[in-house]
Parts: sequence; structure tokens; C-alpha cells
Amino acid sequence: MIEMPKSSTENEILVPNSQIVPDSLAPLVCALEASAKQDAASFHFPGHNRGRAAPSSLVQLIGLRPFIHDLPELPELGNLFSPEGPILEAQKQAANVFGASDTWFLVGGTTCGIQAAIMATCSPGEYLILPRNSHISAISAMVLSGAIPKYMIPEYDCDWDIAAGVTPSQVEKAIEELKKDGQKVSAVFVTSPTYHGICSNLSEISRLCHHHGIPLIVDEAHGAHLGFHPHMPSSALQQGADLAVQSTHKVLCSLTQSSMLHMSGDIVDRERICRCLQTLQSTSPSYLLLASLDAARVQLSENQETIFNKAMDLAVETKNLVKCIPGISVLESSSFPNFPVIDPLRLTFGFRQLGLSGYEADEMLYEDQMVVCELVGTQSITLAINLGTCRKHILRLVSGLQHVSETSLSVEKVEKRVEHSVLEPFADINIGLNPREAFFARKRKVSIGESLGKICGELICPYPPGIPVIIPGEIITERALDYLQLVKGNISGASDPLLSSIIICDN
Ligand SMILES: Cc1ncc(COP(=O)(O)O)c(C=O)c1O
Repeated sequence: MIEMPKSSTENEILVPNSQIVPDSLAPLVCALEASAKQDAASFHFPGHNRGRAAPSSLVQLIGLRPFIHDLPELPELGNLFSPEGPILEAQKQAANVFGASDTWFLVGGTTCGIQAAIMATCSPGEYLILPRNSHISAISAMVLSGAIPKYMIPEYDCDWDIAAGVTPSQVEKAIEELKKDGQKVSAVFVTSPTYHGICSNLSEISRLCHHHGIPLIVDEAHGAHLGFHPHMPSSALQQGADLAVQSTHKVLCSLTQSSMLHMSGDIVDRERICRCLQTLQSTSPSYLLLASLDAARVQLSENQETIFNKAMDLAVETKNLVKCIPGISVLESSSFPNFPVIDPLRLTFGFRQLGLSGYEADEMLYEDQMVVCELVGTQSITLAINLGTCRKHILRLVSGLQHVSETSLSVEKVEKRVEHSVLEPFADINIGLNPREAFFARKRKVSIGESLGKICGELICPYPPGIPVIIPGEIITERALDYLQLVKGNISGASDPLLSSIIICDN
């Protein structure tokens, strides 16, 4: 479990005005409630005027309450960018529970926290060491900060079409190579766990980084729950990370778009983080999102020891049931011997032996049992088990998977069972321009056939998972184009989602 930093008593923290706030209270939720109860003649934004002018169609859907509590920076609620009162209390309580020295609430998701963490550690021209399978937010952070990437190529399992994490020796090699070239390494960035739940050895990586005086930033978007059960991997902060960004809205229970940025120690300049967050976030943060972070923290702290027991049991039960279904494989740590730790609440099932793609299996599950997966890939589907998962839904999932297996084990499908491992998409990365140069370079559109060997001018990224196949500035390779054929139709944000054309840098 996360070790609680020393406070006045085990379950209380001291806030600046010397009030003792028990950690079972949600200061921001309480402040929002008290503020909404006032009989205020309001002449402020938002224009729905505390629900009085709320659009009826949405009121019918969600009721008036969300509008009544959708309040702006009123004096009694405090300001996110110079926190005091309830926001400060709520952030301190969160820091306490997650084992941080400072915690910032975010309304722009982990995306904005990653951008802030990279901008706060890397100045233009300085090097950021990161895995090539980083989330797009790390790429946009390099456009914003002017940092230059030194990519580590993750281990890749082509049968699963899944990338792993990075090893300490990869980090060490990257640091040594840059140092030998006389380059300044400003930060190391690691994603752990990955979308598929694969965890890197952060204890060893943080030890290495600190040996060289380099801060470690961890994209822990998928790991806000880590450390809150004896059989779960430790959290990034527990393993020595300096900054960890968590999507509280992913596995924990805050509202979508709400995340937290945690800091530990003093390698990173706290004031620079504040300035970056102020640069990146809306000047009108939603207090509903902020209050949902406060509420999610209380939910966790009320019951830290046991809150994940049921979810963990259900995850084990599901795995055991699925392992008995012919033709369906379960992603285990044995697939990645260098990465022995996988988040027990993230389940990935493969359909290769049935001759089915993840997309086909997903469609069958949806049509047959109305089962909705978190992530679908060429070879697999991934499911997130969380505090709301119930046995009834697990049984529906298992019965859906049984149906997928039975219908696909026909002679026709078995014959189709060709070994079609995918190509490793990141194996031959060649950088023509760094992300910031590529972002601002002149561009033109060419047909996909013409693009081979040119410098890509746009981000080509299947979403989810949000890991770019081609990053602006990279030379377009045959391997990348072949891989894109497999994931076509699932690309978001490209100028031509069907990929008959592509934007290149015109240099
Ligand atoms: C690995 C990873 N990092 C960061 C993010 C961004 O998180 P958010 O959606 O909270 O902005 C995601 C989103 O899916 C992700 O998968």
C-alpha cells in the first residue's frame, strides 16, 4: 500500500488556516454544495444561470443538478491557478493519499499533464528520452517545448501486435549515447502501465535517472489505482518517479477529462509546473470535473485496504474462465519475459488461433452480447475491470467469448488460420525533422504512393490507443505504410482518414 506521508493524525491533514480536515470529507464537493444552496441573484457565467436557462433536452437527460452545481471561480470555491481554500485542501488530500509532495488537479486530462511535465523539464533543443510507443500527448509536448526526441524502441510481440514497456538497460543506453555526444538530457519519459497493462521496472529506471541527475516522468494514465491492493504493482511514485500523471477518469471514478499530476521530491521546479499548467489549461476550469477528482479521492481513501478486492477477484475469475475457451488466448507476462508485471485489472484476449482479428471478435461480442471493450487491435481485445464491474457482466462476456469460439471453430475458419503476425511498426524509425520543426514546416498533400521516403507532415495515429504509427518529421517507410493498411479505418485526426493521401513536409 502507499505509505502515507506524516500528518497530524493518520487520517487527517492540516490545511493552512489550521483547520483539521478529515480525509473522509471532500472539501471541494462540500464547497460546491454549499455555494449552490445560496439564494444568489447571479449575474455571472455560465449563461445557463445555475440551471435557470438550462437547455431542456439535456435537463431531460441528466436533470437540473449538474447545472445547479456547474459554478465558476466564485470566491468561496477558489481558483485552480492560485489555489487556496477548498481546491488547495482537495489537492493536499489527494497528494496525501497518492504519496505525492504536490498534486495538481487537471481538467484537460492526462494529455495536458504530460504536456506540462515535459514543458516544465525540457527547453528547446534539449533531449527527452522516451519510448517510440508514447501517447500522442508526448509528441505534442515536444512540439510545444521544442524538446528533441531520443526514442527507445519498445520490445514488440508481433503475434499479439502489442508493444511492451522499456527496460532499464534501454534507458541507460540512451543516456550514455547522448552523454557521449555531449547532449543535455533533460528528462526521461516512460509509459507504465501501457494501455495493455504492461509495467516497466520503474524502481531501477528511477535509480538510473537519479544517478545521472535526470528527472523521471511517468505516463501513468492507466495506473491511478496502482498500489491500492497488495497484489497490484506499486505506483510510479512508490518506485521513485519525480512526476506521475494519472487519468483518474480511466480506472478510478472521476468524470471524463479529469486527471491528476503528482510530484515527488525536488528535482523538478514546482513553479515551472504551475506556469506550464496555467499556459495549457482553460481559464474556466469545470468545477464539476474538479469536484469529481475530490470525490474519487475520498472514495479511494475511505476504503484503501479493500476497495479493489472484488474487482481483483473478478479479474482472476474471468481469466480462469476464458483460459478454458478453445482458441482464445490470454495475454500473460510470459509473452514479455522482460516485463514480468502486468496490471491484473487489464485483460487482453487474442483470437489468432481462431483466424479472427480483434476487430471481428469485438463486433461479434457487441452484436451477440452487447459487450463493449475498451481497446480493440488487429489481434486482440482489451478489457478494463474496475470498481463497477459485476459478475453478471463477466458471465455475459464469457458467454460471448464462448460463442465467438464456437462459431469460429468451423472448418472454413480453421483453414483460414494462416499465421498472419503483423509487422513491427516501429523497427526502422528514421527522423528527418524534429517534431517542432516538422509541425511548423511548409506542407503539401501527396498520394500515399508518392509519400514513400518523404518526411511526414502529420500525425498518423490509430485511436485508441493513441500511439502514432508515423510522427511528423519521420521518413515514411514501406513498413509503416504496410502496417497502416491493417489499422486503416481506425485512424483519427489524419487529413485523409482513409489514407489515400497524406501530408508531407515540403522542404
Ligand atoms: C498511455 C496514455 N497516456 C496518456 C493518455 C491521455 O490521457 P487522457 O485521455 O486523460 O488525456 C492516454 C489516453 O488514452 C493513454 O492511453
